Amino acid sequence: KSKHAVLDDMRGKRVLITAGKTVEAIDPVRYITNHSTGKMGYALAQEAVERGAEVTLISGPTDLPKVPKVKFIPINTTSEMAREVNRCFEQIDIVVMAAAVSDYRVEKPATQKIKKKSDTLEMKLIKNVDILKDLGRKKKKQILVGFAAETQNLRENAARKMQEKNLDLLIANDVSRRDIGFGSDQNEVLFLRPGHEPLLIGKNDKKKIAQRVFDCIMDF
Ligand code: CTP
Ligand code: CA
Repeated sequence: KSKHAVLDDMRGKRVLITAGKTVEAIDPVRYITNHSTGKMGYALAQEAVERGAEVTLISGPTDLPKVPKVKFIPINTTSEMAREVNRCFEQIDIVVMAAAVSDYRVEKPATQKIKKKSDTLEMKLIKNVDILKDLGRKKKKQILVGFAAETQNLRENAARKMQEKNLDLLIANDVSRRDIGFGSDQNEVLFLRPGHEPLLIGKNDKKKIAQRVFDCIMDF
């Protein structure tokens, strides 16, 4: 079937997308985060809304403009993202976790700016909740889509994540490549689905990748 003729094929679908990075405070002026720019998540939100879906975008800080007609929920930390995701989840049909979530947070962020004193500084980090894994445990009819960022053994690591998080689709990214992924307008990804052969989506604009993601989901 023609993919481009059907611009309204997601009408009535309630889609939740997370995007960007989460940020964990060290002290009032410093933080832990990652290189995610949010481009992939925002492209997904744009695509879904253009196809008629009702879209909620939960986003960490980015430099990107808001996506018109999308319900926007800004967050900073992983726990804030978890809270907002869980608040929406029951009313959602499709969840796409495109955010690069900080796996750890500082156990006790300093309330005042940390002064440089000794030659070394130790900080204890504690693990954040795995938002997607939790959704995988409690999902009913929702379609769950995750991303995997890997620097090695892409297929094996990604396949394990798909299983462990009980996903319907996992989009695997090789983040060691400079030409794609983080910060780039382009990406090359592998689609993994339970019971299906991996599908390589060759290097393409994030907009095009977003199209392929929803084409795939709407074909389930
Ligand atoms: N994710 C999440 N909550 C976390 C960490 C990750 O929901 N605390 C989601 C991401 O949004 C992504 C998927 O899980 O959709 C995989 O993230 P990734 O960082 O690749 O995998 P992890 O499970 O965190 O494992 P690791 O970082 O150790 O490879
Ligand atoms: Ca991680």
